[in-house]
Amino acid sequence: MESFRAREAAPLDGADDPMVPSDESWVVKLEQSVNIFLTESVIMVLDGVYRDRNYARFFVLETIARVPYFAFISVLHMYETFGWWRRADYIKVHFAESWNEFHHLLIMEELGGNALWIDRFLARFMAFFYYFMTVGMYMLSPRMAYHFSECVERHAYSTYDKFLKLHEEELKRLPAPEAALNYYLNEDLYLFDEFQTARVPCSRRPKIDNLYDVFVNIRDDEAEHCKTMKACQTHGNLRSPHSAHNCSEADMECVIPENDCEGIVDRVKKSRTK
Ligand SMILES: [Fe+2]
Ligand SMILES: [Fe+2]
Repeated sequence: MESFRAREAAPLDGADDPMVPSDESWVVKLEQSVNIFLTESVIMVLDGVYRDRNYARFFVLETIARVPYFAFISVLHMYETFGWWRRADYIKVHFAESWNEFHHLLIMEELGGNALWIDRFLARFMAFFYYFMTVGMYMLSPRMAYHFSECVERHAYSTYDKFLKLHEEELKRLPAPEAALNYYLNEDLYLFDEFQTARVPCSRRPKIDNLYDVFVNIRDDEAEHCKTMKACQTHGNLRSPHSAHNCSEADMECVIPENDCEGIVDRVKKSRTK
């Protein structure tokens, strides 16, 4: 069972997506082009600065990886406080995503990725601006902010995938960091299941014997984030895997009344068409 509706979980590639009305496709196209430009620019800078300093690069990536989830939660809290929109599942899933990224960060710190002050400074400097940018983008267009995060998560997935292929033998000889054992082999994996919105809870249980297994799981986590970010681009689409699992369609007590939350861009477009 998936916690987002299968019909709406289809790839969202802007104008080609049948779920996007044609009169909106230019907006989607523009949003996605800006996102791709921004992501590629940041990747170019990171490639230039880090080259073969893998753990420092991962430390920077994981520091900024948590930021969008915190930004989404901040805006959703504000909407909820104002009584504009209430979707507890979004806040819950985004928190679980940031909790997962936090543990990736702990692993990178244990591997020495934060040893140099310049890396810590760069990561935190980027995180500061990324937060305010994401808050603004999320208020303007949640679809655009989720697409941007999808681009970032896709980059994280391919970075770890390449790293695994290049260093397989070496990583298999190294022990798993304590932070990874505590997180992936913990008895309480409620929050671990919570961010994997395309899976039934308890269906993924990592095996951690060495550092290679740790990076396989980090890479797979990034793939789960990517799927969730893609599903979120259709608003009102996301449900917590636990509530989707525990509630039948007919169980109305579990269904939180859903209002529209489209962001300023869609609101303006709609009022102009009306
Ligand atoms: Fe991560
Ligand atoms: Fe990530």
